[in-house]
Amino acid sequence: MKQPILVTGGAGFIGSNLVRLLLNSGESVITLDALTYAGNSANLENLKNADQYEFVQGSITDQNLISDLLEKRQPKAIIHLAAESHVDRSIADAGAFIKTNLEGTYYLLEATRQYNADEFRFIHISTDEVFGSIETGAASETAPYRPNSPYAASKAGADHLVRAWRQTYGLPVIITNYCNNYGPYQFPEKLIPLMITKAIQGNLLPVYGNGEHTRQWIYVEDHCQALKHILEHGEIGESYNIGGNTIIDNLSLVKSLCAILDELHPRKDGQPHETAITMVEDRPGHDLRYALDRSKIENTLHWYPTTKFEDGLRQTAAWYLDHRPWWQELLKNRYKGERLGLLHQD
Ligand code: NAD
Ligand code: DAU
Repeated sequence: MKQPILVTGGAGFIGSNLVRLLLNSGESVITLDALTYAGNSANLENLKNADQYEFVQGSITDQNLISDLLEKRQPKAIIHLAAESHVDRSIADAGAFIKTNLEGTYYLLEATRQYNADEFRFIHISTDEVFGSIETGAASETAPYRPNSPYAASKAGADHLVRAWRQTYGLPVIITNYCNNYGPYQFPEKLIPLMITKAIQGNLLPVYGNGEHTRQWIYVEDHCQALKHILEHGEIGESYNIGGNTIIDNLSLVKSLCAILDELHPRKDGQPHETAITMVEDRPGHDLRYALDRSKIENTLHWYPTTKFEDGLRQTAAWYLDHRPWWQELLKNRYKGERLGLLHQD
């Protein structure tokens, strides 16, 4: 095996897309993943170049395991994606978010601090949610941190740890803050796959609050390309915002998705999918709008996303239509599509 890249959280949505991209571009990869409800070895089946791939089941909270892995495998980089990632679950129970996102990042940083390798890089994956709701304009890398959900606070804390390990110990880190991702292998608790899988099953499509909450979207392959680009060209000690091309409110997004499904998978009763949209109780502490300014990565690293939102949505809907056993197994055994993250129980 060539000197590998260690990907934490490689069995999750973004991680598995990244592992595939890295292997296809000739890299060696080790995945470290605890296989929580969101981690899925089925995401990593049929990997090309599999002799350059190794899977290790374990937690980033296990510092000895990480130290051992670094010592024995001598990776040239760590790309740190492992996290509890779903905002609604963090509202219901924040404990796992503090444990993994904050404490786990600390153990990973500590193990990495003891590891000496030339040209080594630690790429930390964070989110636009650390900047809180951006009512107008877009947040640059220097915008103040104002996290509002337990998830966002745990990610913000992790970003601060990564920054401190750079300033204090000189760890060769880069921080990346991304907007909402969508695409193949996303767990069906998140908005886009939840709506697609519910529509295919003929269920109601729940939109929170008045549907005016607004998110910025990036196709997962664009995100992974950006990570690879940052790994190769990013400057140590910097942070980069990676925003997609489309900023859209949730109701308009779900209506666009319904129109695509009317073409790809028309309802048996001839009604448009849009008639299944139902407005439901809002998420507690729901941030109104996220928007990232990505001019830094465009101007300094000459990177920008290429997938048009309409094309990415269509490809995503088609992928879920073509991969029903993948999500049906998850809905049967891990998550049944019920509402998460309300403060009361009905
Ligand atoms: P995901 O929930 O699909 O995957 C997370 C992975 O981490 C899973 O495979 C899980 O098993 C693993 N994991 C959880 N706890 C672990 C632990 N203690 N040790 C080792 N592995 C553990 O998440 P995702 O959507 O792929 O997000 C990946 C990263 O990107 C996260 O850090 C998330 O905060 C960040 N991010 C996600 C988005 C998005 O829209 N999905 C946007 C911006 C940033
Ligand atoms: O912004 C980046 C973040 O995007 C990542 O850091 C998180 O890991 C990722 O989960 C995602 O967080 P969101 O809360 O934005 O994603 P979610 O898919 O849960 O919700 C997207 C929007 O859709 C949000 O405004 C809430 C709304 N929503 C969500 C669900 C699940 C609904 O209206 N109905 C739903 O059923």
